[in-house]
Amino acid sequence: MTKDLIEQVSKGESADQVVESYRRRAKQKETKEESLTEQPAKVTAALSKVVAEMTVLAQKTRHYHWNVTGENFFDMHDIFGQIYDKLADEVDHVAERVVQLGATPVHTLETMLSLSDIEEDKSIPADMSMCKIVISDLETLVSSMSDTITAALAANDRPTVFMIDQMVGCFEKFKWFLRAFSK
Ligand SMILES: [Fe+2]
Repeated sequence: MTKDLIEQVSKGESADQVVESYRRRAKQKETKEESLTEQPAKVTAALSKVVAEMTVLAQKTRHYHWNVTGENFFDMHDIFGQIYDKLADEVDHVAERVVQLGATPVHTLETMLSLSDIEEDKSIPADMSMCKIVISDLETLVSSMSDTITAALAANDRPTVFMIDQMVGCFEKFKWFLRAFSK
């Protein structure tokens, strides 16, 4: 007889009450265990979406880096190149975190495009339109990164929280540069 059971019986609870109380506790434990197994999957799913969006946006900013024209060419060619370099570098860390968590990172362009809320651009927009599009895409990326931080906090996954938090700061800064430039 466990200590809890002895206490309940000594308090004068009936056998039915004791059994019901045990059933309730077992159910709570089961629910907790279920949510613990679901949490890492939520983190890897959120990370996979970030990998997809970083890849799509990297190619898009590279396209803009190549194809921008006009009086702002040098500034915009440079900033799109910087954003592309940062995305291409950081996406590797995000995908490798997915592997460390025991899942397979998204690895085909087709799947990345279907997962990403950022769309590729087949057109060649005017220079300031490119700027506005990338600001909007960075907002989408930062939002997906924030969702990842929320999932990682729930799973007590501090390395993921730390890694993504640093990236949010960096991409927020690019967003500020583009906003200031486009005013
Ligand atoms: Fe270049």
